[in-house]
Parts: sequence; C-alpha cells; structure tokens
Amino acid sequence: MKYICKLGDAATLRTACLVVGVHKSNQLTTLGLALDEALGGQIGRVLKHRDFNAEAGQTQMLYDPTGCSAARLLLVGLGDRKVFNAAAYGKAMKAAFAALNGSGAADCIALLPNGADDDLTYRLVRAAVEAAEAATYRFDRCKSQPTENKRPLKKVTFIAQSRKQVNAGERAAAHAQAIGNGSRLAKDLANLPGNLCTPTYLAEQAQQLARGNRKLKTTILSEAQMQRLGMGSLLSVSRGSRQPAKLIIMEYNGGKTGSKPVALVGKGLTFDAGGISIKPAANMDEMKYDMCGGASVFGTIAACAELELPINVVGVVPSSENLPDGDANKPGDIVTSMSGQTIEILNTDAEGRLILCDALTYTERFEPAAVIDIATLTGACIVALGDQASGLLANDDKLATEVLDAGQACGDRAWQLPLWDEYQGHLDSNFADMANIGSGRGGGTITAACFLSRFTKAFKWAHLDIAGTAWMTGKDKGATGRPVPLLTEFLLRRCKLTD
Ligand code: BES
Ligand code: MN
Ligand code: ZN
Repeated sequence: MKYICKLGDAATLRTACLVVGVHKSNQLTTLGLALDEALGGQIGRVLKHRDFNAEAGQTQMLYDPTGCSAARLLLVGLGDRKVFNAAAYGKAMKAAFAALNGSGAADCIALLPNGADDDLTYRLVRAAVEAAEAATYRFDRCKSQPTENKRPLKKVTFIAQSRKQVNAGERAAAHAQAIGNGSRLAKDLANLPGNLCTPTYLAEQAQQLARGNRKLKTTILSEAQMQRLGMGSLLSVSRGSRQPAKLIIMEYNGGKTGSKPVALVGKGLTFDAGGISIKPAANMDEMKYDMCGGASVFGTIAACAELELPINVVGVVPSSENLPDGDANKPGDIVTSMSGQTIEILNTDAEGRLILCDALTYTERFEPAAVIDIATLTGACIVALGDQASGLLANDDKLATEVLDAGQACGDRAWQLPLWDEYQGHLDSNFADMANIGSGRGGGTITAACFLSRFTKAFKWAHLDIAGTAWMTGKDKGATGRPVPLLTEFLLRRCKLTD
C-alpha cells in the first residue's frame, strides 16, 4: 500500500472514494464542512435521515456524489468528539478500510479530522495507516485456491489542513508503514503452522532478512555450538523433538559503532505440546503461536532496517519445539543452565523460561544498554490481564516506565505487575538452585518473571508476557503482530524521532 499526505481541495481531486469522518450528533470536521459546501449540502442531507449516526466504526457508502470528482463517498463514524483520540480514529478507519478493500475502489482520499496540533496529526495518521495495514492483511499461503481480491485498495491519500500537518503526517505514514510491514512479517511467521514453521525455517527467514542489507547481520547457532556454550537448559527442551533447536541472532547496526545496543530476546517455541507434562487437546493448535515473541523480534528488526533507525539493536530468538518423546525432559529432571545455575524441571510445560534463560545469559556478551524479552510465557497472564494488555515486569523502574509510555502512545499497551523479592521464595527447590515453576497456585506470571530475573542481573531488563495479546482465538483466530508497534515505538523514542 502507498500512503501520501498532502494539502488539496477534496472536491476537485480525482479518486475512487472520498472518506469523510463524522462525529456523533452528525458533526462534520472542518474539511468535511468545506467539502459539503462544494457538494451543495449533499452530505448534510444524507445525515438528516439519521440512518447513519456516526457511531465509531459505522460506515455508509454513497455513490456518484455530484459536485466533486470522486466516484464514491464513504461516511465514517468517528464517535463522540469529546473523547476522540488516535485510538478512536484507528478503530473508525479500520472499518472504513475493510469496507473499501472489498468495494472495488483501488484508492481513496481521507480528510483528516481536526487535529489542531502536529502531535495529534502524527498520532492520527499513525493509527490510520496501521489500521489500513491490519484491515488488508490476509493469510492464505496455505489455501490451495487463495480467495483473490481483484481490486484491492492500493493507495491512501490523507488531506491535511496545513503544511506542518502534512510534514507530521508524512513522518507518521513512513513510521506506520514500517510498523505495518514488521507486523505483517510477525503475523505471517506466527500464522504458519508448526509443521512448516520449524526452528530451522525461522533460522532461514532470519538469514533471508539480512540478505542484501549491509546494516543487518544474522548468525545461527546449532545445537553443537549451544552445547559448547553450556546451554543445558535450552537444549533439554529440544531433546524431546526431532527438529533441532536454533539460536537465532540478528544484529541491526544503524547506530554509531561501539554504542551499546538494545537487545530484544523473543521466545521462539514453534510448537508447545507441553512435553511429558502434556497439555489438554482443546485448542492445542494455538500453541503454534508460542513463537510470537520471536516473531515480534523479527518484525521489529525489519522495521528498524526499513526506517534505517540510528540505533544498534540485537535480536536473539531461541527456537525449539516442546514435545513428548522418550528423550524428553521428565518432571524432576535437573539441568544446568549456561549461567551455571541448576534448575529442577517440575513441569516440562514451563519450557519458555528454560530456553529464555540461556538466551538471556548469552545476551550479556553484547553489553546491552537495555534488554526486553518478549514471550507467550504464562496462561496466568491471560487470567490476569485478558486480551488487551501485555504483562510487563522489570528490574529497572525507568525502563519499565519507558516501555509503558511507548505502549500507551501507540495503543499497543502493557500493564505492570510487581517483581518483588518476596515472590522469589516460590521457586525454592530441595534438589537444585531453583525450580522451573512456582509452588502454590497464584501469581504464575510473576513467578515466571522471577525465574527469568535470576538470569538478567547483568543488565537493565524488562519482560513482556504476551500470552493474551499475541493472537486472537475463536472465529477471528490469527496473530495480531503485537508487540511490534510497542517495540518499534520504544526504539523510535530512543532515537528521538517521536515522543
Ligand atoms: N506457552 C505456554 C503459555 C501459554 C498458554 C500461552 C496458553 C498462551 C496460552 C507456556 O509454555 C506454558 O505452558 N506455561 C505454563 C506454565 C505452568 C506450567 C507453570 C502455563 O501457563 O500453564
Ligand atoms: Mn509450555
Ligand atoms: Zn510455551
């Protein structure tokens, strides 16, 4: 999709569709009013019928409006003007783009709603472009006959009210396009089933990403190399699988040589059956999504490269399957991690932390300025926060605030849970340095983070539990691409390219 932001007279511009936002009680925006005047009050007359009441996300298509050069006119409800913000605009435009994408209109011109300041304009365009990318996403790689969209939407133009707004809008569109492409990559990898998306496949995709880009370098560690590094915890998980584990390292060098990188460490379980502590059958297919943390690292690195961000970023993705097998981990087994700490595996289904702990220890060698790990780590996080907020736990309050603020700004939000020392005792083991699960029933997301915190003492670290936010279940089953927007926003802010 192509995005443009410019000044112009909506009535005279040639397009397949004009997209006009309307607030509740049928209030047009400044640009909408000007257009309606040129159309001789046509929009106002339609609104008088009250069939359309400008509920956020409501759409109404009108054909062959007279007095302008557009073939269609799409009214989009923006909801209540008093509570209008970028999130509301994103929701409204997602509905608009969904309606347009099936209509036969290959391009559209959207009148930006009244955004007096450039910051709001930036956020509105960011939200709209990310909505367009989401609304036009399809995953049909595995269908023998993909449903063809003969006239997909290809170009979106935003009309702004001032030169300054145009600049803010152009910057927003470039950022959002890269985030959209990164999210698309994350979704594609995540939606691909476990028989096709294996650790080896992910490793190949990482190498593919680096091909032809001088700022990107991919390194893949084999099981033998991980063995030599002493990654006994990670390798114990893949021992129960016929697919060899891979440690995928993607280095994006956009910053000054020698400037400390931000490290992103993503859980890459291409399928989690639970191992010997096997999961129930219902919805087990969704455990192909247990690599969504890793996929978000791919997507974010791709966005960094597309935007040529002036920062160094290292992506580390430990990738494995977790299956039951004669050679798989057994409850009670004790393994030695790369850090030297020993772990009693009381539940083989708590495997994410077992592969992440060695990847986190490995990350120390990059002397990172900050480390964020991203993992579909605990079902408990879904119980606590549902499908809207990712769980955030951190050993550094400033970093935690930075991540929370980034999420809030771009609408890919996280919510902090405590990482208090008092929880650490839940991991006591009679036989090893620690157990891989907490004793007692409560606080599963916290005890999982407590486990990881024992491997992150060398750096500032934040942990994102995305078990509830990485994919949707039910009839809209599919990856969300989260938290690519949050992570990219975090990096854009570190580069002072937005605030
Ligand atoms: N990948 C799962 C967590 C998960 C479950 C994410 C369902 C999203 C939906 C993880 O490996 C796991 O199995 N965690 C266990 C931990 C428990 C054994 C302490 C869980 O949450 O049940
Ligand atoms: Mn598991
Ligand atoms: Zn898992």
